[in-house]
Amino acid sequence: RVPVAILISGRGSNMQALATACADPTFPARVALVLSNEPAAPGLGWAADQGLPTAVVHHRQYDSRADFDAALDARLRAAGVRILCLAGFMRLLTPAFVQGWGDRVLNIHPSLLPAFKGLHTHERALESGVKLHGCTVHLVRPEMDSGPIVAQAAVPVRADDTPETLGARVLAQEHRIYPLALRLLAQGRLRVSGAVCHVRDATAPEAA
Ligand code: GAR
Repeated sequence: RVPVAILISGRGSNMQALATACADPTFPARVALVLSNEPAAPGLGWAADQGLPTAVVHHRQYDSRADFDAALDARLRAAGVRILCLAGFMRLLTPAFVQGWGDRVLNIHPSLLPAFKGLHTHERALESGVKLHGCTVHLVRPEMDSGPIVAQAAVPVRADDTPETLGARVLAQEHRIYPLALRLLAQGRLRVSGAVCHVRDATAPEAA
C-alpha cells in the first residue's frame, strides 16, 4: 500500500475521511503521516487518537516560504511518503516544492473549479447566482487552486441556502470524492496530458 501524508491546517474532516478509507486493508494507500503547519490544528488530536503518526512544521518558525517548504519537504521525505493529500492545508506551496513532488500531490477545493478559486467559495457561489456548486479534487500546480482535475461532485444550490447550509452539502461530497481520487492515484490509474487528467480503466493491463 502506498504511504501517504495528509497535510492539514485546521479541523481535518477531509483528513478523517481519507484516514477512514485507508483504515480498510484493501485500500491501496495507507496513512504514513498527518502533518500540520498549525500546532493547534484540531485535526492533529483526532489523528493521534487513531494512532496515526503526526508532525508539526510551524510556518511561523521559518523566515521565508522557501525555508518552510524545505523543512516540510525534508519531514515528508524522512517519513517515506509517496503521495501528499492537501486537506484544508492553507499554505501556498513554492514551485520548487510542487515540481519536486510531480503528479503525486492532491488538493481538495470547495468549488467546481475553475470557478471560485480562493476563499469564501460558498458565499461567492450564492452571490453569483449559480444553481450548481460543488467540490473538486485536483493535482497540484504552483498556481493556487489549479491543476488537472481528478474528480468533482456537484450539489444543487437552494433558494434558502446560507453559506453554512450550502457548505455542509458540499462538505459531505468532499468526504465522498477525496478517497475516490486518492484510490485512483494510489492505483497508478491517472495519466496527465496537458491540463487534462485521464483515468485509466481498472481492467487495463498497464494499470496493474
Ligand atoms: C474544506 O472544505 C476544504 O475543501 C477547504 O477547506 C476545508 C477544510 O476542512 N479547502 C480550501 O479551501 C483550500 N483552498 P477540513 O479541515 O474539515 O477538511
